Amino acid sequence: MKTDKTGLKTMSEKKEITTQELFSRMRRENSPPLFIVDVRTEDDYAAWKLEDIHTPATINLPYIDFIEEPERMTGMVPEDKQVVALCGKGGASDYVADILRKSGRDAVNVAGGMKSWGELYHPQTVYESADARVIQVNRVGKGCLSYILISGAEAAVVDPARHIGQYLDFLKENNLALKLVFDTHIHADHISGGVLLAEATGAEYLLSKEDAADARMKFRSMEDGMEFSLGSSKFRIVALGAPGHTPGSTIIVFDNNLLFTGDTLFVSSMGRPDLGGQAAEWVKDLYQTIQGLKKFGDDVFILPTHTSGPAEWDGRGIVMATLGRIRAENPLMNITDEGDFAASVLAHLPEQPDTYDKMRKANIGAYTPTEEEMVQWELGKNRCAIEAAQEAMGKQ
Ligand SMILES: [Fe+2]
Repeated sequence: MKTDKTGLKTMSEKKEITTQELFSRMRRENSPPLFIVDVRTEDDYAAWKLEDIHTPATINLPYIDFIEEPERMTGMVPEDKQVVALCGKGGASDYVADILRKSGRDAVNVAGGMKSWGELYHPQTVYESADARVIQVNRVGKGCLSYILISGAEAAVVDPARHIGQYLDFLKENNLALKLVFDTHIHADHISGGVLLAEATGAEYLLSKEDAADARMKFRSMEDGMEFSLGSSKFRIVALGAPGHTPGSTIIVFDNNLLFTGDTLFVSSMGRPDLGGQAAEWVKDLYQTIQGLKKFGDDVFILPTHTSGPAEWDGRGIVMATLGRIRAENPLMNITDEGDFAASVLAHLPEQPDTYDKMRKANIGAYTPTEEEMVQWELGKNRCAIEAAQEAMGKQ
């Protein structure tokens, strides 16, 4: 068996790789350079790209062009790199990978394509002390983050994704009892795994009733100031009402040190206040919520539920920042006039995908989607953030 420097099989021995293999390969230092040939349409490519801390060189050569002009397209792909062909679900790119192999290139297909990339999860420990550990689970392709909080033999999960097997496996492997499941708010960009995970484990499911007026599922309402314990009684978990992105948005404060901010505050932006169709009102709430964060010092850590991409990640791919850094880098944090804040936020709201209303209904239990619907609705990156601060961050 031929191996490259990393000990992996050379790609020429395979016809396809999984997104997990691709991800591991991209994250491994000293891997031979990859070259991505993305064969989706220009529009699909523009809307959602495969990205990571070090994204390989990528070219967009639509499938239809490969059909019509295979030689010209093949000529645009380097001969001296390992090539991965990528499409929406792995079918068209399989065909292209075959053409590229026949031309002598070391090419493989990415099984499942961007659909599979959007369902890839990467867990990393982001906080560890004598009595507690926190794991950030990054759904890399969508930019959705969830958290496993551990103290003693007990755990809590914040904003679980719908693929709950990963949390169940982790709990089992680490002999942990799941006690609490928090949804910081009713999500619109993805299907929550909160109810399923709580049902599967007997944990308590918590959500603010302000977000759940029409909810059909069982939950305990999280109120501002409510306290919870986990494992060692030294730690307090406190719910902090944070309306703005939604009326019931709640920040989970862990040990007065870590703030799980949901979609209220991101590393380089804030959660958009317009998804309920009441932006003019909700933006005022968001302003008050942000002002309320002044009671926290610069050294507390912000752990959000979304990321807009690798520009927000550290060298290990972790998405967290001190509140001090966010205050220094996000201009929206420092606006002290409600009207100016509202004007700045409302001028920078991205378009709302039409699937968001459907996902919101699913997340309050008012509609039970099929697996196929959930896959379709969840395609693409989240669009939960105000764009202005992200742009400002990108320019630094
Ligand atoms: Fe959200």
